[in-house]
Amino acid sequence: MSFNTTTRYSGLAMLLHWAIAVLVIVQWRIAEAAEEAATREAGAAIMANHFALGVVIFVVVALRLLWRQVSPPPPPVKSHAPWERTFARIVHLAFYVLLLVMPVAGWIALSSFGEPVSVFGLFALPALPVPQNPDLGEAIFELHGASGVALLVLIALHALAALKHTFIDKDGTLYRMLPFGRARG
Ligand code: HEM
Ligand code: HEM
Repeated sequence: MSFNTTTRYSGLAMLLHWAIAVLVIVQWRIAEAAEEAATREAGAAIMANHFALGVVIFVVVALRLLWRQVSPPPPPVKSHAPWERTFARIVHLAFYVLLLVMPVAGWIALSSFGEPVSVFGLFALPALPVPQNPDLGEAIFELHGASGVALLVLIALHALAALKHTFIDKDGTLYRMLPFGRARG
């Protein structure tokens, strides 16, 4: 018998992690595609998908956080330095904060133009009762865009750290988030 031998995230946590990762990358590519669209109308049509996917990401992240309460993460890898653990915790926290705040900020910004958020034409989140103020909406979108860039930088750092630990330090970090390979505590 031994205690605390858990070295992997649960299957559902893995599924949600990789779903969020794919959705966030797609979300970013949609925003870029909208920026490069030939006309304003084409850009707006592409951006409608970004708004809708933002709502989906919010829901998936909320599910992930609920599941995290039921099935908490395994204890950190023992060979990770204290500063690495602290840094990883800060980055993970920043992911959750950004992934919840960014879509809500987007909803508030669209609301200040009086626009609802249509979710792929299936249903719509009504405009929130905020003052009609396109300047404020623009300012929020500006901040949202800057947060998006910060998010991408953190994702690059996070992925590089996971790969460095796994393939250079050979400490099995990546396998904690995968259903195969040798994960370690
Ligand atoms: C959009 C991209 C991504 C986001 C937003 C993201 C977010 C997160 C978050 C929030 C956690 C903490 C999980 C928790 O404790 O609840 C986590 C853990 C983890 N992620 Fe990602 N991730 C992304 C992409 C990746 C990629 C590309 C890799 C691999 C190359 C990766 C590897 C891992 C690993 C190995 C862990 C577990 C770390 C540990 O054991 O402490 N992630 N990720
Ligand atoms: C978690 C969900 C979301 C993520 C991860 C996300 C991410 C991003 C990213 C990466 C960019 C591009 C930044 C750049 O390269 O300049 C962006 C731009 C944008 N997003 Fe989102 N977004 C999300 C949700 C939303 C929602 C729900 C809305 C609106 C309801 C929205 C509206 C916009 C707009 C209007 C822009 C263009 C901003 C500008 O640069 O002026 N986003 N988003």
